[in-house]
This record gives sequence, C-alpha cells and structure tokens, in this order.
Amino acid sequence: MENNSPAHRAALSTEDYHKLTGFDGDWRDTWWDDEFLSMMARQWGLNRVETVLDVGCGVGHWGQRLLRHMNRTTTLHGVDPEKAWVEGARKRAQKLGQEERSDFQIGTAENLPWPDNSLDMVTCQTLLIHVADIHRTIQEMTRVLKPGGLFLAAEPNNFGSTAAGFISNPMPPWEKIFDLLELEYRCTQGKAAVGEGHQSGGQLVMDGLRSCGWNDVKVKLNNQSARVTPPYTDLASKTMVEFLRTSHESGAAMVVGSTRENCLRYYLAGGGEKSRFPMLWDQARKRLTEMISAIDEGTYASAGGHIHYLTWGYKPAF
Ligand SMILES: C[S@@+](CC[C@H](N)C(=O)[O-])C[C@H]1O[C@@H](n2cnc3c(N)ncnc32)[C@H](O)[C@@H]1O
Repeated sequence: MENNSPAHRAALSTEDYHKLTGFDGDWRDTWWDDEFLSMMARQWGLNRVETVLDVGCGVGHWGQRLLRHMNRTTTLHGVDPEKAWVEGARKRAQKLGQEERSDFQIGTAENLPWPDNSLDMVTCQTLLIHVADIHRTIQEMTRVLKPGGLFLAAEPNNFGSTAAGFISNPMPPWEKIFDLLELEYRCTQGKAAVGEGHQSGGQLVMDGLRSCGWNDVKVKLNNQSARVTPPYTDLASKTMVEFLRTSHESGAAMVVGSTRENCLRYYLAGGGEKSRFPMLWDQARKRLTEMISAIDEGTYASAGGHIHYLTWGYKPAF
C-alpha cells in the first residue's frame, strides 16, 4: 500500500479497507448483470469502440466487465493514482484472459496521460464521487475523447441509497431516521467541503456534462437493487452481509466517513454541531448492531434501493 493513503481510510486496517472498497472478492461484480449490460451495450454502440479508458480503474472491475461486451479487438486502458490498484488490475486482467487487450497505468483523472481527441470511449465507476471537482474532471475526460466518442459514468447517489435502506426490517422510528439522515447529510456535505468528493455525485454528472456544453445527455439507473435476503447464500446477499459485518467489526458505521474519527471530521466540516455528534454516532452504530443481530437471527431482509446512475453522451463538436 502506498503511504499517500487518503485521509478517509486512515483509521482502518489495510485488510478492512480492501474489504470495504469491495476490491477483494465479488461484491462489485454483483452490481451488474450481463444481460442488462448487453442490452445497454447495444444502446451505447459499444461495437464501435476500439479504445476505451477506465478512469480511477481501481483493480479493474468496471472496465473489465464492460470489455466482455466489446469487440475482441478493443483495447482497455485504465488509470489510477494508486500503484497497488494498478498492479491488482494487471493481475485481474491476467486471470480474466484480457492481458493482451489491457494497459493499466498510474495517473490521475485531473491530468490524464493521453493526447487530446484520442479515445473512442472514456468511462468511470465510483470515481467522480471521490474527486475534488467533478466539473474539472469531466472536462479532462472530455479532452481525451474523440469528437463523437462515448462518455459513460456509473456513479451512485449514496445519500438516497442509504435513505432507501431505512425502509427495511428492523425499521427505525422516525426520530432515529431523522438522526441518521442528519449524520449522513452533514458528512456528505463535509466530505465535499474538504475536497474529498461528493458521495452522492452520481446525481451531479448530468448537470456537469451539460455545463461543459453537452446538450444531449442520457441517464438510466442500474437494474440491480442490492437486495439482501435470508439465508444470505446468493452472491448479492452474501457479499452485502460480509460488507456489513466488516463495517461492524472494524468499528465503522454505514455513513460516509466510515470510522468515528473520520465521520467527526466530515460532520464538523458539513456544519454539524459538535455536541450532537456522540449521540448521532451512537445511533449509527446501534443501527448497524441491530442489523447484524437480525442477520444472525435470519430475519433481516431488504429489497435494497441502490441508486446508481448510468449517465452518458457523445462528445459534441465544440
Ligand atoms: C471506489 S474506487 C472505484 C474503482 C473502480 N472504478 C471500480 O468501480 O471498481 C475509486 C477509485 O478511484 C481512484 N481515485 C481516487 N481519486 C482519483 C483521482 N483524482 N484520479 C484518478 N483516480 C482516482 C481510487 O484510487 C480508487 O481506485
């Protein structure tokens, strides 16, 4: 692991951080099904794409999944600032038999190591929620795209997804939901205020493209809801339960900042009142404990409600 670790993971062990990002294991793969992606591939015209860049590629989940729906001649480029992730992406490419068609390198979304107008497609997943300035990043991604090339972002609205998850058994009373939403909202605003990204940035991508001069922008939602159902043996439920258990055991909570220390930092930056924080944090931890108890009893069930936008368009001739 590089020592330029972002602040938000500082209090977590490397192992827990890997689990919570979903880079280890199958969780990220459960976000998509290939039937849906193959339908979308036709709408997007992926058969016309010979060069695609996955920005903030992590260990490669998104770009490598899309590559399954592209021509055999298509090359997948990936860029990420973290050496460990770039190496992970190369290893996964080898495992997936995509090595010959892949090129992963270190770099940042704000300064992409590609010339202007050079790629058929530029894409990202859960990257724009981490950048300091979504507009600037979209502009840079646009720069390297050929005129007529496809921009595609798969980015969530985590605030909305969290709220949707409260309407599940065990269902908290309104006073508690009020507190939990307050904590989530303040942390979301605070994270953006300290320049670590807007956790619900998926909601902002369409507007970001429009303000960069893209008039014809399309938006759809992912078709996976992130449901969790007993006995938690199907892949989606199993991986979500693992995620909840890791959050619980690592002392984190299902709010933007994960650890207490980090949540407090975001909460204060988001205009939160310091004296309310211990009570709000306690509520968030209790909610997680209740969910874990219900899972242990086999009674926790949620239809999910993951809000994950697909936002796309074709680069206009500016
Ligand atoms: C949540 S992960 C998503 C990884 C991958 N796109 C996926 O869906 O599996 C966010 C990734 O963005 C990378 N990242 C964060 N800030 C970045 C930046 N300014 N430029 C490029 N990548 C960045 C992180 O290193 C991390 O790998």
